[in-house]
Amino acid sequence: MSFSSSWLALREPADLKARAPELLQVLEGFFSSRDYADIVDLGSGTGSTLRALQDILPKRQSWRLIDNDPDLLAAAGDELAAWADSAGVHGDALLLEKAGRSIRVRFIEADLAADPTPWEAPHPDLVTASALFDLVSAEWIDRFAKAVVTARVPVYASLNYDGRAIWEPAHPADEDILGCFNRHQGSDKGFGPASGPQAAERLTSRLSAQGFHVKTASSPWLLTDDARPLADELNRGVANAIHEIGEIDGSVVEDWLQARLQGDETRIGHTDVLGLPG
Ligand SMILES: C[S@@+](CC[C@H](N)C(=O)[O-])C[C@H]1O[C@@H](n2cnc3c(N)ncnc32)[C@H](O)[C@@H]1O
Repeated sequence: MSFSSSWLALREPADLKARAPELLQVLEGFFSSRDYADIVDLGSGTGSTLRALQDILPKRQSWRLIDNDPDLLAAAGDELAAWADSAGVHGDALLLEKAGRSIRVRFIEADLAADPTPWEAPHPDLVTASALFDLVSAEWIDRFAKAVVTARVPVYASLNYDGRAIWEPAHPADEDILGCFNRHQGSDKGFGPASGPQAAERLTSRLSAQGFHVKTASSPWLLTDDARPLADELNRGVANAIHEIGEIDGSVVEDWLQARLQGDETRIGHTDVLGLPG
């Protein structure tokens, strides 16, 4: 499954607002006595997670951004260089200075379906993933959880879609559309049947069962006027998914979409998960 850099740019401000502050606070506290952290970001896209977390992590950071899309990794390099106060290249790494942080970034093209933890030793101090876990299968989550627990690597997995969507004003087809969309979320995104809305629960239960301390918090998107382009793009995507499944009459879906494109608010539920070694 591929994602465009324009879609990721559209969602980044909403993601930044949505990330659960209580989990970010715990994460900041966990690293507060350190001056260095080595972080791996899975399914990094254009580097949104790095930009979101850099100011709560230690002053010196080394990030490995892992994605299977070389175009997104190239865009990540450009976007991070433009975002930083200063940027330079050293070998295969991008060296950034941003608001008092020194950040070394490496870009790694890898297929996570083949290996959920494709890093070389030593293990990182933290593994992060935003908007990734709902794409992966339940079995992938089990393999991932086993590997991070064995290596005692903390996990921050944010913005996992939780199956809830509320549109205002309501439309008679909302419930059917959502049910159908959630079934579509379970289709294969390259990792086997996707865990979709069950992702956060699965990750939480697998990490806790093996002794990690896990906190979860909701991180919904509340999309109103200032996020209209994101809401419209999202609702068009929902309508396309419903057409693909073909269970709801096409004219009903179109009527629903037109109402959404003129609607006031789209709320999409997410859950953030933070797992720390016990
Ligand atoms: C929804 S996007 C999220 C991107 C980024 N984490 C963010 O929050 O903006 C999912 C990301 O996972 C990556 N991805 C999907 N399947 C992958 C795979 N099999 N191996 C590595 N990355 C993958 C996509 O290329 C995309 O960058």
